[in-house]
Amino acid sequence: MRRRIIAGNWKMNMTKAEAKQFMADFLPLCKDAKCDTVLCVPFTDIHRVYKLAIGSNVKVGAQNVAWADKGAFTGEISAEMLKEVGAEYVIIGHSERRAYFGETDETVNMRTKQALKNGLKPIVCVGETLDQREGGKTEEVLANQVKKGLEGITEEVIIAYEPVWAIGTGKTATPEMANETIGFIRSVAQPLVGDVSILYGGSMNAANAQSLLNMEHIDGGLIGGASLKPNDFSVIVNCD
Ligand code: PGA
Repeated sequence: MRRRIIAGNWKMNMTKAEAKQFMADFLPLCKDAKCDTVLCVPFTDIHRVYKLAIGSNVKVGAQNVAWADKGAFTGEISAEMLKEVGAEYVIIGHSERRAYFGETDETVNMRTKQALKNGLKPIVCVGETLDQREGGKTEEVLANQVKKGLEGITEEVIIAYEPVWAIGTGKTATPEMANETIGFIRSVAQPLVGDVSILYGGSMNAANAQSLLNMEHIDGGLIGGASLKPNDFSVIVNCD
């Protein structure tokens, strides 16, 4: 059940031409990768990346999904629409969505249920801020995010632990710190959803990926900046 999953999070990057170029460069470099390789791309790139990835080991994901089937939800996108263009995975509750777009544990829970109901694989993000870590609140914050985010859910999900202070800052959690925290998350998640894959995210790159992935509890990575660079991302997907 605990597969190695390496998921790129392109965030709001990659035009049509850039996505095409990325795939041309990346596909030959990842053909021997043994992990589940996923690219979570902007909505407008999903179908293109999906088509370019046919016949390769790369799967495609989105970065958000609505909790409703359809209707008056301006600016949202439905699970059916995502599946129709080739998405198989979806990131839910990324800290940027929580910080800038009002995402809460409750909406994370609703979106996750909707993804599962429609056969999309949710990558549910949790993580503490620097203030919370320094204030000794890390475990309380993470336990809450996991319990509320996964309330009423028993199906398999993927969890991504992304300390907010490590995202896009170049500050990575040490492998030991990430491992210990993910071990804690596992102890909270396991009674709910079983032995699921838990990824680390936050300034993971070609240089530090192997030492993170060597750790017992770290089943993979959710990678932002380094997933925009074919060479760097291929080093990560080819880690032992
Ligand atoms: P980063 O982003 O790798 O650029 O730190 C990770 C993420 O936000 O998923």
